[in-house]
Amino acid sequence: MATWPRNLIGPAKAGLYILAGAALVLAVAAPAAAQSAQASGCETCHKEHPSPVLSAPAKDFGATDVHRERGFTCVDCHGGNPNETDKVRAKAPSTGFKGKPAGQAIIAVCSRCHSDGTLMRKYAPKQRIDQATEYATSVHGQQLAKGDTKVATCLSCHGAHGVRLVSDAKSPVYPGNVAATCTQCHADPERMTGYKLPDGSPLPTDQRVKYERSVHHAAMVQRNDLSAPTCNDCHGNHGAAPPGVGAVTNVCGTCHGVFATKFALSTHSQIFDKGCVECHSNHEIAKPTDALLGTDKTSLCVTCHSEGDNGFKAAAGMRTEIEKLKAAIDRSRTLIATAENAGMEMGAQSLALREAGNHLTLARTEMHAFDPKPVDTVLQAGLALTAKIDTDGQAALDEVSFRKTGLAVSLGAILLVVVALWLKIRSLKAAD
Ligand code: HEC
Ligand code: HEC
Ligand code: HEC
Ligand code: HEC
Ligand code: HEC
Ligand code: HEC
Ligand code: HEC
Ligand code: HEC
Ligand code: HEC
Repeated sequence: MATWPRNLIGPAKAGLYILAGAALVLAVAAPAAAQSAQASGCETCHKEHPSPVLSAPAKDFGATDVHRERGFTCVDCHGGNPNETDKVRAKAPSTGFKGKPAGQAIIAVCSRCHSDGTLMRKYAPKQRIDQATEYATSVHGQQLAKGDTKVATCLSCHGAHGVRLVSDAKSPVYPGNVAATCTQCHADPERMTGYKLPDGSPLPTDQRVKYERSVHHAAMVQRNDLSAPTCNDCHGNHGAAPPGVGAVTNVCGTCHGVFATKFALSTHSQIFDKGCVECHSNHEIAKPTDALLGTDKTSLCVTCHSEGDNGFKAAAGMRTEIEKLKAAIDRSRTLIATAENAGMEMGAQSLALREAGNHLTLARTEMHAFDPKPVDTVLQAGLALTAKIDTDGQAALDEVSFRKTGLAVSLGAILLVVVALWLKIRSLKAAD
């Protein structure tokens, strides 16, 4: 221990006790003080640095950053000594400073926490901790492992400073923003040069243009239907394909389950490599119409089937039956409208008409087994409904004309009575 000069001991002793007390108070308060100092050591210098590249990270690491909100600071990702205001000492080798991570090091920075179940449980007990392992199975992860740094890393999709909760509408991975996030690369022909599809053709860069023309985009954007898919719903957030799907080409069934069940019964499901995609495409899915079914030049079926084969016959048959029910529904609708205009109550028939319409929809679903029999069963049930509507409608119209005749007869009778009365009154007056 240091030896104090003798002459100080007397009066200074009291002062020292005071200082020691103050130091103790400071020491107790230290954790909180150190935390704000932690933020300020790196942050203060970086925020004020004239270079935007150096100041942006500090500015973006603001109030909306999920990591800041949970109490993390620069050093949780970069290492270094947060209490130093001197650049060199703050980043001395002994501080574990890592600098700007790149490539595989980015995955390591993020997964240090996100793959650590014990740590993540403290903050978000239900959150998955498989992002890095899933990522490793994706094309992105496999390419990165080979040293290709043009692919997406955690950083490309989430950012590093200013990371938001995925449920935040401003997050780059919020449903409405995903297409833009993915296509900052996938719609950039320069970045995507050199990559090829399995058949050797260049990897397309048209996914966004096509997706924006699809029924799915329309549902999401025009009707704000967040259950409609965007890129990650079909391709997975992190892995090669969404969990439980196996291959991306099987993804449609996760949402269109009944279609997938019917399709699985068909001959097509045995021979089509791409399932639904063979007929509907993947990115530019248009609203299907009945014109796709059948043997017209514009139908899908004739691209593979030709006159005489079973597929051709089935296509013609199913289309003809569908057209029959459509025509019957149109007839019934007109009849109901006529009867209602004549003042008849047609509530029950209108309900039945809607039910017949449901059979039409059901037939279009059933059609995906590509077997005319079950389609016919559904359509016949629909036709039975329209036949009953027509009988009821005709009866209502008959009733209207019966009432009209009745009215005319009674009006005639009343007129006769009036005339007879008038004649009688006149003859009485004449007698007077
Ligand atoms: C006194 C100012 C100052 C302090 C304190 C400071 N930095 Fe820096 N930092 C800079 C400057 C200037 C650069 C640019 C590179 C250089 O000059 O070394 C930089 C570069 C960086 C880089 C980029 C390195 C690279 O590899 O490109 C990171 C990351 C970084 N600092 C993080 C931190 C962290 C974390 C802390 C706190 C532990 C911190 N800085 C403290 C001034 C500072
Ligand atoms: C959640 C982890 C994380 C946190 C927290 C974090 N960073 Fe970073 N930082 C990164 C990653 C990842 C990169 C690489 C970014 C890139 O390649 O564009 C990076 C890059 C940087 C760079 C280099 C920028 C460039 O383009 O050259 C600087 C400077 C930096 N960070 C400073 C900070 C400062 C200062 C803080 C605290 C205010 C901070 N970072 C907090 C992960 C983080
Ligand atoms: C190609 C883009 C992409 C990459 C690369 C990516 N993510 Fe994600 N991440 C997403 C999407 C999309 C979601 C889901 C958003 C949602 O649920 O709506 C997500 C969700 C998350 C979530 C929320 C929990 C969860 O799993 O749903 C965390 C945490 C996360 N990512 C961390 C990471 C980490 C760590 C990495 C790197 C190993 C990474 N992400 C790489 C796109 C990406
Ligand atoms: C020091 C530990 C740590 C590091 C390093 C870290 N994170 Fe996080 N991250 C967390 C915690 C804790 C949460 C909060 C989870 C919660 O409460 O929902 C979180 C939340 C997130 C979320 C939001 C998840 C949600 O629930 O919506 C994303 C996205 C995310 N981190 C991405 C990243 C990325 C990308 C990196 C690397 C640049 C990274 N994290 C590095 C600990 C960390
Ligand atoms: C930082 C740029 C970048 C971002 C962001 C990005 N990707 Fe990629 N992605 C690439 C590159 C580069 C490849 C080429 C790798 C290859 O094919 O070998 C690729 C490959 C793919 C492939 C495989 C293509 C194939 O058949 O070879 C799919 C699928 C894919 N990305 C989907 C997505 C989705 C979905 C998102 C958004 C959630 C996304 N990517 C975000 C750069 C990116
Ligand atoms: C409805 C599901 C679905 C959506 C939404 C979707 N994809 Fe795809 N995507 C697929 C399927 C299925 C394939 C594989 C088709 C095949 O094997 O021919 C594919 C193939 C790809 C490929 C490989 C190259 C190619 O074009 O064939 C890339 C890259 C890709 N998608 C990126 C994206 C991006 C980026 C988005 C968002 C803008 C997106 N996808 C939206 C289902 C989807
Ligand atoms: C994440 C769920 C989801 C996935 C995955 C998905 N879809 Fe859809 N799909 C929807 C929603 C929601 C609608 C809009 C329904 C509506 O218009 O009412 C829709 C609409 C459609 C329509 C138009 C239906 C109509 O009556 O107009 C077709 C066709 C279609 N999807 C085919 C596919 C195909 C093919 C795939 C696979 C490549 C696929 N979908 C993947 C949810 C999904
Ligand atoms: C062999 C071609 C073919 C295949 C394969 C196929 N579809 Fe279709 N799909 C059609 C045709 C044709 C229509 C139009 C039927 C009509 O309107 O009469 C249609 C219509 C639809 C509709 C709209 C139904 C409606 O009510 O208007 C959806 C949704 C749909 N298909 C989803 C799927 C899904 C999901 C798969 C895979 C499981 C699939 N399709 C496989 C040819 C196909
Ligand atoms: C991409 C090519 C392709 C398209 C498009 C296609 N088919 Fe097929 N279909 C086939 C092949 C190949 C077979 C099996 C060989 C055969 O029997 O002709 C088949 C078989 C069938 C069968 C079973 C025939 C049997 O002998 O059991 C029916 C029914 C059928 N298709 C109906 C349709 C209908 C209806 C459409 C239009 C909605 C259609 N197909 C569109 C290729 C296609």
